[in-house]
Amino acid sequence: MTTNKKRVLSCIQPTGHMHFGNYFGAVKNWVDLQESYDCTYGVVDYHAMTMPYDVKKLRNNTWELIFNLLAVGVDVDNLFVQSLVPEHTELGWIFNNFAAMGRVENMTQFKDKSSSENIKDKFISVGLFDYPVLQAADILIYKADFVPVGKDQSQHLELTREIANRFNNQVGKEYFVLPDTLFTETPNIRSTADPSRKMSKSAGEKHYINVFEEEGRLRKQIKSAVTDTGEKTEGEMSPGLEGLFTLLKAAGNIEAHTTLMEHYNADVLKYVDLKAAVADTLVELSTQFKERKAEIVADKKNIKLQIKQSSAEIRKVAQTTLRDVKELVGLLNVKF
Ligand code: AMP
Ligand code: TRP
Repeated sequence: MTTNKKRVLSCIQPTGHMHFGNYFGAVKNWVDLQESYDCTYGVVDYHAMTMPYDVKKLRNNTWELIFNLLAVGVDVDNLFVQSLVPEHTELGWIFNNFAAMGRVENMTQFKDKSSSENIKDKFISVGLFDYPVLQAADILIYKADFVPVGKDQSQHLELTREIANRFNNQVGKEYFVLPDTLFTETPNIRSTADPSRKMSKSAGEKHYINVFEEEGRLRKQIKSAVTDTGEKTEGEMSPGLEGLFTLLKAAGNIEAHTTLMEHYNADVLKYVDLKAAVADTLVELSTQFKERKAEIVADKKNIKLQIKQSSAEIRKVAQTTLRDVKELVGLLNVKF
């Protein structure tokens, strides 16, 4: 953490599966950025509590996501678990007082989640409302310059900058860096079952493809991908086809992408060829990941130890920021 490299921070919730939407939209970027930036990545279990959830599953989901992240190439030294760095919640509380009610009320993610039909018992927690303030703490506590996320997080980043700005103004010091988003080339991966919506686990089983999926089911999901329906304007590619081409490109099969695109332009594209190319490419990627994951799971005990150590190391940065913040906002700053 003593380099001159720019800082990158991002987090992901331990809910459900890692799918090709969040992989190509965010996590692949996390992996690639590790070469040129000082990267810190979190599994945000406090955030996962904001929707009704199963207390028996959360801890397992957290470890499962960690194994998945390591399997696709995230470096263990860059990874922490949010609840092992409780300073996030403390900074989150402080930030509550720098976040405008009207702005937080306007967050589309809150509106979506609180109105969603699958919210159990229609219980909407204060935690769900406060979610983006804790997210601002996740980001600012490491003074991140860049935050690699999908397009759906832009509004939360905007709020983060507003909180940082208000804080800086009130304490009279440019203490927090105002972070920017970093999008991948594929910030929007579509559901193959309904290309008018994004690939997402909250929409139901059909709407996402697990990165670690068993080969047969993965091929089946691509085979049944919707190609021609959905909104289509004359002369424009249908959302379904576009989604398949995006997957091919995102997975790095540029050769097939170029050839098939030529076929499309010449009006001779066979959908079955496109689907076969997408399925083969995703299966190849998935096979590598599954092999790596099997090694990781076999070494579980050691990996858990490494995560505790990396979280403790990363926590030191968070503690330094929090000490500065307490000083700046006028709280007692006693060392016990
Ligand atoms: P989630 O899986 O919704 O918790 O999101 C984790 C990260 O992946 C966030 O940065 C999202 O913006 C990104 N993401 C999720 N779904 C997609 C998608 N279908 N296309 C692109 N990015 C996505
Ligand atoms: N809200 C993000 C999502 O839904 C997850 C998240 C929590 C996050 N804290 C963050 C992302 C900090 C980037 C930085 O995907």
